[in-house]
Amino acid sequence: MSDVKLDDIVSLAKRRGFIYQGSDVYGGLSGTWDYGPLGVALKRNIMQLWWKMFVDGRDDMYGVDAAILMNQKVWQASGHVDTFTDPLIDCRNCQSRFRTDHIVGDNLQKAWEYRKEVGELDDVLSGSLFSLQSDDPSDVINEYVGPNARLDVVEMLNKKVPCPHCGSKKWGEPKQFNMMFKTNVGPVADESSISYLRPETAQGIFTNYKNVVDSFYPDLPFGIAQQGKAFRNEISPRDFIFRSREFEQMEIEYFVDPEHWQEAFEHWVAQCKEWFDALGLPAEKVHELEVPEDDRAHYSQRTIDFEFDFPIGREELMGLAYRTSFDLDNIQRVSGKSMEYTVKGTNNRFVPHVIEPSFGVERALMAVLASAYREDEQNGDTRTYLAFPEHLAPIKFAVSPLLKNKPELVAKAREVYQVLKTKHGAVMWDDNGNIGKRYRRQDEIGTPHCVVIDFQTLEDNTVTVRERDTTEQSRIAIDELIMR
Ligand code: GAP
Repeated sequence: MSDVKLDDIVSLAKRRGFIYQGSDVYGGLSGTWDYGPLGVALKRNIMQLWWKMFVDGRDDMYGVDAAILMNQKVWQASGHVDTFTDPLIDCRNCQSRFRTDHIVGDNLQKAWEYRKEVGELDDVLSGSLFSLQSDDPSDVINEYVGPNARLDVVEMLNKKVPCPHCGSKKWGEPKQFNMMFKTNVGPVADESSISYLRPETAQGIFTNYKNVVDSFYPDLPFGIAQQGKAFRNEISPRDFIFRSREFEQMEIEYFVDPEHWQEAFEHWVAQCKEWFDALGLPAEKVHELEVPEDDRAHYSQRTIDFEFDFPIGREELMGLAYRTSFDLDNIQRVSGKSMEYTVKGTNNRFVPHVIEPSFGVERALMAVLASAYREDEQNGDTRTYLAFPEHLAPIKFAVSPLLKNKPELVAKAREVYQVLKTKHGAVMWDDNGNIGKRYRRQDEIGTPHCVVIDFQTLEDNTVTVRERDTTEQSRIAIDELIMR
């Protein structure tokens, strides 16, 4: 479990310019978030780290950047038009719409906790709906939540569970809702112009598989990687950026000989763990969930969800799926073009199978924020700071003159600032308030080093460098600081 409260993170993120509600000035647009100056820097650092690790750092990976709008056949062939749905239920009193599994899941969890506390069953859980022999709430909850949640719960909803908005217990019939945002390309809105905002970046990779093979003819196994926006018309976006309607994915489709899919899968399990380490996530807060067949996406023959102890509880951080040849087979069938791969120098031809590590940027960012968030006591006051790994920190150095009304200190500080800025880019000038306040402000945004120019600097070209995590200060020669 996380010891950080979501409200503290949301409030710091807004106050200090990381993340704002989308369209805030007009009352917001649910499920959308805007990144402020520090948020965009953090997000880019995460995305660049990923690209460096999985694309530039390997010799079996090819990057692409496909269009978001794609031919509607892509989404028909992939199965998204027919099956990319979530269970939906309406309150008949106030017309609010909810994900059936969320409403049921939340209430089951509450009921389970209640049962544990008072040693007896809440009405909601009693009766013949399910057996309560197990001591594990997930045995019960799993039956009702997740992508294949049972929908025969309306009876239970009608009887027991109030609408979170109006309190009524009158629910409509549960149905399935397709989460793709539909649009038309061009001025004529007819069947043939229908397109969708992509709900996963993966299809932009699959549709370019043949292009990459024809241009580069890589040996198997090889991967194609892409980062970019994805859109899902989530029924109930919630928990800050965790479940948004517009978000970013970083996906790899790793093409393998079907005979060797298992070793490739294990390779990617290990790679994902290296990634979590690079993000600074504590290993004990990351958990592997072998997703049971009934809960897997329609294309997957094996899935591991990596879950993280977020402030909202243990939830999916990213997924690793064995997509077999499902997607390339569908493209071959619908386009009529061969997706077969010929092993060089042989007549061995087959449609490759695919291992897909799918990383969500927002969830990675939320996990980084939650892991970095710290409070301690300094001189009797509570200090909040973000202990980002240095390579992710939005600002690497803050530079200040000890006194801002001493032109000679300001001039020297500007000189140091300029040199560091040219080298690192992410360097902030900060001369507001006293030094103590500057340190607190920089701690809150996770700046690892604060550099202060004082009168001694003018004499011996040394500066004070104060470290965020330890609050220790040391005297360092400017030349040495620049070489760091
Ligand atoms: N191509 C496979 C795929 O899209 P997914 O499990 O639906 O699989 C992959 O999504 C990752 O994308 C998730 O593990 C999560 O990190 C992120 N993600 C999915 N839906 C999201 C949403 N509504 N808001 C934020 N991130 C989301």
